[in-house]
Amino acid sequence: MNHYPGQVRLVEVGPRDGLQNEKQAISVADRIALCDALTDAGLPYVEVGSFVSPKWVPQMAGTAEVLAGIRQRPGVTYGVLVPNLQGFEAAVATGAREIAVFAAASETFSQRNINCSIGQSLERFAPVIEAARLRGVQVRGYVSCVLGCPYEGEISPDQVAQVAEALSDLGCYEISLGDTIGRGTPGKVRALWNRLARRLPRSSLAGHFHDTYGQALANVYASLQEGIAVFDSSVAGLGGCPYAKGASGNVATEDVLYLLHGMDIETGVDLARVAEAGNGICAVLGRETGSRVGKAMATRAARRE
Ligand code: HMG
Ligand code: MG
Repeated sequence: MNHYPGQVRLVEVGPRDGLQNEKQAISVADRIALCDALTDAGLPYVEVGSFVSPKWVPQMAGTAEVLAGIRQRPGVTYGVLVPNLQGFEAAVATGAREIAVFAAASETFSQRNINCSIGQSLERFAPVIEAARLRGVQVRGYVSCVLGCPYEGEISPDQVAQVAEALSDLGCYEISLGDTIGRGTPGKVRALWNRLARRLPRSSLAGHFHDTYGQALANVYASLQEGIAVFDSSVAGLGGCPYAKGASGNVATEDVLYLLHGMDIETGVDLARVAEAGNGICAVLGRETGSRVGKAMATRAARRE
């Protein structure tokens, strides 16, 4: 395959993947402001937070308040992570219409991240996905460690395919493949999509690239060449996973937008407004943006002043 999709859908994971690993607590008000700024910029999907144990990931406590407080824009999908039925009940009680369950292609990562084996996690997700179906709630599925594991090293595409197919069979409408530790390179990424496409339609697959080794944008481009048209990204390149030490943020939304718009691929998203949202959250965190494009835009703006 070597033709690009004409349109790409971005899943903004900054308010969840971006903030879950922060040392400092981010207030509910700041989290709400971030979500609203991102949807004001035209992002069609924002992952608002997680209904996980606050003992495991304290940064995501208060997700119910965030979900209840955001300005719900028509046509925008607001997703939340849910690891089990307890999380599902809490999510729907707050009005969630979209959830994501998260599995891994590595046994050790699964144990560290959600305290159970891959098989047990799939057993746990089955009733969650069934309950969601009965209530008309959409379910997205994640597979972590698809291009390497912080504990086990190499992970084979066959291992990834097994878990992705299982999630799809359980009823996930889309499977997002997570390069949790950002170790993947374009050749491996293309091979992975080709392995997955044996059984799953490419239109049901999404790329979720962390940028630890600086390969994330190249991996997005390689995925476009393979006909993948959904990407997870994080404003200002925020992020990391508490159970993958040293892993850096997701590919920055600003950088992906610059790439896509430069290729005349439609997103419906306003890059300048995303960059503003990035400046806003970076001011809260007291740090520079991790987006190269965000930085370049800020430098240009400062020169013009
Ligand atoms: P556990 O300790 O095995 O759970 O944790 P448990 O069922 O035995 O319950 C123990 C305690 O947790 C109980 O409380 C439960 O009530 C509570 P206690 O009686 O001790 O006071 N509990 C909950 N509380 C709130 N919400 C819940 C919930 N469930 C149980 N849903 C569990 C298992 C899955 C809960 C835990 O391991 C957990 O919360 N893990 C979260 C991991 C996480 O959020 N990781 C980051 C997201 S994944 C990621 O970043 C990767 C991704 O970006 C893709 C990529 O990059 O690869 C998606
Ligand atoms: Mg992630």
